[in-house]
Amino acid sequence: MAEQTGGDPLFESHDPIFDRKELLHVGHVPDEDRIVGRDDEIQSVAAEVGAITRGDPPNNVMIYGKTGTGKSLISRHVATRAQDAAQGNDIDCGVLYVDCSEANTETRTTRQLALSLKEQTEYQQNIPLRGVGTMEYYQHIWGILEDCFDAVIVILDEIDKLDNSNILMQLSRAREARKTDAYIGVIGISNKVQYRETLDERIDSSFGHRELFFHPYDASQLREIMRNREDAFQPDVLEDGTIELCAALAAKKHGDARKAIEILKEAGELARRIGSETVSEDHIQQAQEVAEINRIEELTSGATVHAKLALYALASCIITGDRETYKTREVYERYVGICELVATDPITENGLYRQLKEQAFLGVIESEKTGGGRSQGSYLLHRLVTDPKHIVKAVRRDASLEDLPTYDRLRETSPSTGNRDIDLTSFS
Ligand SMILES: Nc1ncnc2c1ncn2[C@@H]1O[C@H](COP(=O)(O)OP(=O)(O)OP(=O)(O)O)[C@@H](O)[C@H]1O
Ligand SMILES: [Mg+2]
Repeated sequence: MAEQTGGDPLFESHDPIFDRKELLHVGHVPDEDRIVGRDDEIQSVAAEVGAITRGDPPNNVMIYGKTGTGKSLISRHVATRAQDAAQGNDIDCGVLYVDCSEANTETRTTRQLALSLKEQTEYQQNIPLRGVGTMEYYQHIWGILEDCFDAVIVILDEIDKLDNSNILMQLSRAREARKTDAYIGVIGISNKVQYRETLDERIDSSFGHRELFFHPYDASQLREIMRNREDAFQPDVLEDGTIELCAALAAKKHGDARKAIEILKEAGELARRIGSETVSEDHIQQAQEVAEINRIEELTSGATVHAKLALYALASCIITGDRETYKTREVYERYVGICELVATDPITENGLYRQLKEQAFLGVIESEKTGGGRSQGSYLLHRLVTDPKHIVKAVRRDASLEDLPTYDRLRETSPSTGNRDIDLTSFS
């Protein structure tokens, strides 16, 4: 390759490990032909919104699934294809995408919808950025739809972050209320499966919708996703078996495509840092360790203090005890003691149970129902999906919880060191 030194020897002209590193960037949206392993999901989403391409009313759909399972990617992909197909049938179909974790109020969301509609058309009216309310933005939206579109697909990503869901009712009733003749299909996306329970009944019934669940990727799908980006690396840099290992590790932990790709990238960075010419299985193992800590930190950083304490309680049971699984009651008892340590009022056992359920869905823990014998009835057993060390570290990142015992402190009271009577208050 031609050496482009830019004149300064301080900067390497040629990356020995990466060729097209951008393929591994977190924000990178892969081309259509690099999307693999989601054919059924693509079909299902297309079946819900597809009527638009034939000039018929679409269904609304909610997509649920854990993080990194392709929800955002597939929604945008299908919406764009529907738009193209509609165009082929002389139907003007718009696609609107809003990330509700940023536009987290109805005003922000409607403003963004109005502005992106304006951007896609010749609409002349000025849309003020501030000083006006939701109603005015809706007026612009209906106006533009009426003038320029036969149909529109609205993707509301991370919809559970919206502070109210009135927009769902507005969008689904727009035709009925004679605001516009355009067909509107909404794709809502959430990684909180409990989202529907939070919907107002009135909204839930007007926003009649199908629900789709995206499952975590298995090892062979992850392998294919990574194989499709092998050209991020220089030829022959990835040693045999590295992608397979990376896929196997990621599938075992979470089935998150974003994380799998991150591990691969991290392994490459590591190889480069230590001056290795190739990326080995050992680099993947190390990168996976780092990625796992990051993953747990990301997942827990958004959680409530009580969810963090619940996780910490379970982790501390595992570290100080001699089992891998604990009953809700056992976790709760530990949790109450820990609340005392950090001078926080505990929530109820049922509240804690709900927190654990939420964490199970996020993929930090696994909960399994077990028959407790005739007299006991059934109960839930919780286990950590990850190393308890990572949980302790991640939870202690919270400034209000940094006084909790460290992993090493907890280890000192584990059965292997002979101290079975754990008195957590002794740490305070
Ligand atoms: N089927 C796939 N083929 C290729 N790459 C994929 C696939 N699924 C996911 N990816 C990669 O993983 C990234 C994350 O996927 P996506 O953003 O769709 O996840 P998500 O389910 O929306 O997660 P979150 O709940 O965290 O928003 C994508 O940007 C893409 O790089
Ligand atoms: Mg997403």
